[in-house]
Amino acid sequence: MSNASSSAEGGAMGQATAKRGLWSSRLAFILAATGSAVGLGNIWKFPYITGENGGGAFVLVYLLCIAAVGLPIMMAEVLVGRRGGHSPVNSMRAIASQEGLKPAWRWVAAVGVLAGFLILSFYSVIGGWAISYVGTAATGQLAGQSAESIGAIFSGLLGDPMKLLLWHTLFMALVMVVVARGVRSGLERAVSILMPALFVLLLIVVGYAMTTGHFGQAVAFLFQPDFSKLTTSGVLVALGHAFFTLSLGMGVMMAYGSYLPKNISIAKTSVTVSIMDTAVALLAGLAIFPIVFANGLEPGAGPGLIFQTLPLAFGQMPMGSLFGTLFFVLLIFAAWTSGISLLEPIVEWLEEQKGMNRTVSTVGAGIVCWLLGVASVLSLNLWSDVTPLGMFTMFEGKTIFDLLDFLTANILLPLGGLLVAVFVGWTMSRKALESELDMSPGTFSIWYRVLRYFTPVAVAVVFVYNLV
Ligand code: TRP
Repeated sequence: MSNASSSAEGGAMGQATAKRGLWSSRLAFILAATGSAVGLGNIWKFPYITGENGGGAFVLVYLLCIAAVGLPIMMAEVLVGRRGGHSPVNSMRAIASQEGLKPAWRWVAAVGVLAGFLILSFYSVIGGWAISYVGTAATGQLAGQSAESIGAIFSGLLGDPMKLLLWHTLFMALVMVVVARGVRSGLERAVSILMPALFVLLLIVVGYAMTTGHFGQAVAFLFQPDFSKLTTSGVLVALGHAFFTLSLGMGVMMAYGSYLPKNISIAKTSVTVSIMDTAVALLAGLAIFPIVFANGLEPGAGPGLIFQTLPLAFGQMPMGSLFGTLFFVLLIFAAWTSGISLLEPIVEWLEEQKGMNRTVSTVGAGIVCWLLGVASVLSLNLWSDVTPLGMFTMFEGKTIFDLLDFLTANILLPLGGLLVAVFVGWTMSRKALESELDMSPGTFSIWYRVLRYFTPVAVAVVFVYNLV
């Protein structure tokens, strides 16, 4: 047992926090948490799952999941991190011992470390797609292209394992470099410039989308719920995505929360992060669906949706090559800050738990993720008919890539979130929570009840419906 973990059990929390240094301000935490939350989940995944699940009703359920499940759990995670003052695994353990609980609770955070590995492996592959499109846009290949040739560019990329591998490797290397050097120094500044820039670029594309003549249809598709199109699996996907897009269920917000100064409101910061994250996702939807309808494309086209629609817009709008290049560069940055937040808790855990130094842990964890990513790369082409768990109806037709996405977003993250909700809602003392959250009694009791009753039941019900 390393020193770090025994001091965690001794409960030397305030001291440990002071030693690790804190975010420079409330803004810094918001920036880092937003950098983690806003990523491929908002711009790549949200539009395509919305398209696959029929639009409005799915969006409504997703928004409800953000407000009633995601936000309360985000607050719970940040709280655990700040109170524990360590990596997620040891924060859970420290609090468990402080509250007189079994140290076995630290396994909750260990589920998260596993989820992080699995997510980063395929996340990096998609990040690679974004890298590849920078070159495509910058060299003017998108200009004036038809929907077919834009589609052909995308299938050409997916069919080329060497290219995919190259970009996946580059993305993973970018993530590893930052994590190896310590996250805080560059991250704050990068996020504070790049996030607003991404926002502006999305607005520009939305502006273009308004000129296509199909904006109204897209708004109706996104915001007019048609419940006949909603399936129980759609509800599971919406719930899972609420966890995925807010970076919940694997300890990221715990890790970042452990650097949050005591005098900052957990509730306010969590609300801010959730709103910004949701705004980016909805903007992405408003940018993409008018293009889908204007060009007679299929909303349910799947994971390739943004790569088959946005390039069309960039090919047609004035200065499209420039905006397209910029857009994909910013998408890489958004994915990069998210990727960093996926690797960081794993590395912190290896440092504290196994006593490895930062470089060794980063390289080790990065290589394992990279290898798993290679399987995702191959599942897009050479192994496209390999479906490892295909004998179960639930996993029928799912390639390795699909399977990793499904297992993490729809099972591991909600499970991690459920356990955090139970841990905070049912095992920590109300007093500790009140002092940590420092909210008005009314708001506190709403949060407390939602976390104790609504969240666990909602996750459990959705699970039972889908898994049984
Ligand atoms: N939230 C990020 C996105 O939407 C992905 C992500 C980063 C994530 N860190 C995470 C998802 C931790 C779950 C858990 O792209």
